[in-house]
Formats: sequence, C-alpha cells, structure tokens
Amino acid sequence: MTVVVLPGDGIGPEVTAAATRVLSELAPDVDLEEHQFGAAAIRAAGTPLPDDTLSACRSAQAVLKGPVGDPEFDAAEVRPEQGLLRLRSELGVYANLRPARADGIDLVIVRELVGGLYYGERGVRPDGTVYDTCEYHPDQVERILRHGFELARSREGRLTSVDKANVLDTSRLWRRTAHRLAEEYPDVALTDMLVDNAAMQLATAPGQFDVVVTDNMFGDILSDLAAAVTGGLGLAPSASLSDHGPGLFEPVHGSAPDIAGHGIANPAAMLLSVALLLEHGLHRPDDAAALAGAVEHAVTAAPTPDLGGSAGTDEFASAVRGALQLTRG
Ligand code: NAD
Ligand code: IPM
Ligand code: MN
Repeated sequence: MTVVVLPGDGIGPEVTAAATRVLSELAPDVDLEEHQFGAAAIRAAGTPLPDDTLSACRSAQAVLKGPVGDPEFDAAEVRPEQGLLRLRSELGVYANLRPARADGIDLVIVRELVGGLYYGERGVRPDGTVYDTCEYHPDQVERILRHGFELARSREGRLTSVDKANVLDTSRLWRRTAHRLAEEYPDVALTDMLVDNAAMQLATAPGQFDVVVTDNMFGDILSDLAAAVTGGLGLAPSASLSDHGPGLFEPVHGSAPDIAGHGIANPAAMLLSVALLLEHGLHRPDDAAALAGAVEHAVTAAPTPDLGGSAGTDEFASAVRGALQLTRG
C-alpha cells in the first residue's frame, strides 16, 4: 500500500515533515513515496507536475499534498498552481470536503473541484479583453449535489446549496438540479442560499450550517471564511474524492511565504488532512479519530503563534505524538 507525498512549497515541507512522521508511525505498513511537485518541480524539471509524479499519484492508494505556491512564480507563464489544478482534474477528485468545527459549529463545505470558473474557456480578445468563463455540464452539477445530499443524510440531514441564481445561468442549473434531487432525498432538508448572504451567515451565524454544497469558486472563498470562524487556516484540512481511484488530501491553506522557514507554521491542518486520509483513503476510522483527538489536545497543550501561543511546528507535532503515545525516535 503506497501513499504518495508531495511536500509542496513555502511552509509545505515543514508541515509535511510533521505529518509524514505521524503517518509512518500510525501506519507502519504503508509505504510513503515522496515526489516533486509545485515550485520545486518547476525548478528541477520545468513543469509543476512532472509525468512520473502524476503516474505515481494515479497508482497510489492516496495522495498527501502540502500547499504549493511561490512568489517567484506569481507572474510567470508556468506556475505551481497550474500543477495543482491539473492534478485535481487528472485524478477526477470532484468532491472536495472542507470540514470546519469549533464550539457550537460543525459544518462541512462540499466544494465542486474540477469544473466551473477554474476550468472554463479562457483567453484574450483582439481588443485586449481578458476572459475566464464559468462552465458546468449538468452531470458535473448532479454528481456533486448528490454527494452533498448523501453526506447530509449521514449527518444532521440539513443541506444548504449555495449559488448566485439571481445572476448566473450556471447557478440556475445548479438550483434546478438541487430541487430535482431533493425529491429523491425526502429525509434531507434543502435550503437555497445566495452566496453573498452565505458569506454573511457564515461570519455571523455559522452554527446554523450542517452540509454546504457549492461550486468551485464560491467554495474556495467560503472555505477560508469557514476556517476563519473556527480557529483559522492553520486548523483547516480537506479531502478531495473521486468515485474510484485515489483521493487527494491537503490543507485548505497556502504556502504562507510570510512565515516560511521560521519553524512556526501550524501543522494541524496538515495533520487533520492525514486524519481524513486515514478515514477516506485507507479506511482506518479508528486511527483517524485518534489522530483528530490528538490534534485537538495539542491545540490547547502547545498552540502555535496563529493560535495565540508560542509553540513551534515541532513542539506542536510532539504534543500530537505524545497524545498518541508515539514515543519512538
Ligand atoms: P496562505 O493560506 O498561504 O496564507 C494566508 C495567511 O494565513 C498568512 O498570513 C499565513 O501566514 C497564514 N497561514 C496559512 N497557513 C498557516 C499555517 N499552517 N500556520 C500558520 N499560519 C498560516 O494564503 P496566501 O498568502 O494568499 O497564498 C500564498 C500562496 O499559497 C499563493 O502562492 C497561493 O497560490 C498558494 N495557495 C496554495 C494552496 C494549495 O496548495 N492548496 C492553497 C491556498 C493558497
Ligand atoms: C485552495 C487553493 C487553490 C484553489 C489554489 C492554490 C489553486 O486556494 O485549495 O483553496 O483555489 O483551489
Ligand atoms: Mn483557497
């Protein structure tokens, strides 16, 4: 059984080191195989997603990925983020689960991950106008909404479908499809919410949400907001799943160039992504729950600066390993 590890850029390698240590101790039978990806791969191979990295990901049981992105390439033709978009698309991981939990809040954002504005036609017109287009095939909308209904059914039974149906045709397709599927899920209470209001509701009354299902762009923005109201980006993990094949597990946050190299990045989001990998990728729910519990313990026992404490990445990770009684090494 192989898990491919893509350490990423900026704080990526720092939080990935903490995560792979815990993973290798919790699941010693799993082979961890590191591959180049992102800015490091552009420097070494001229492309953010080299062919051997992609084929290793395809044949793995799961992929654990650190954040990518480097200011050096922000204005370049070839950028780390292009490799990430291609990897998500090649793996077909259309269902991106972004859980957010805190006192009185327990929600999951189900973000469509391989369509919409990120993957529509783009270009430059002769007059210099630059355009990106939001495109959705009905099948893409149906499968992600279905994922939302199924998840809601397994939780509190409340599904909020977030769109901009007062303006966008893709959102009207989204809303029609949600209502058609609702007939198949009489046990799930469906609510439509416009995305601007959803942002306001998430900021002011996040406790009302159970499962939120939305498109790629809205889900990107709302998931940072959901993280902000539940302790910050340092705590926010994600799982990106397809119907068959390996899932991709990565934190919601980016490469945080402002703190990279200081040893103070919070590894919790990465460790909780390992917990999601244990649950959804390796089907080991007990190990997943133990790790999530240990991270919760470390948040109080050894908080990093983003949590108002002064622990470094290693100290936080040690507190997690201590709580799991992983004292080896
Ligand atoms: P960011 O998430 O990297 O950082 C936003 C803020 O949150 C910064 O102040 C940062 O220090 C802080 N932060 C983020 N993660 C943290 C952690 N684990 N511990 C403590 N503090 C943390 O967002 P950004 O600055 O807008 O983007 C930086 C780069 O990351 C860009 O190149 C962007 O494209 C990339 N990015 C990648 C991913 C990904 O790989 N999935 C996600 C988001 C952004
Ligand atoms: C995320 C990130 C990515 C996205 C970027 C880096 C392409 O912001 O995973 O949330 O927008 O999906
Ligand atoms: Mn994002």
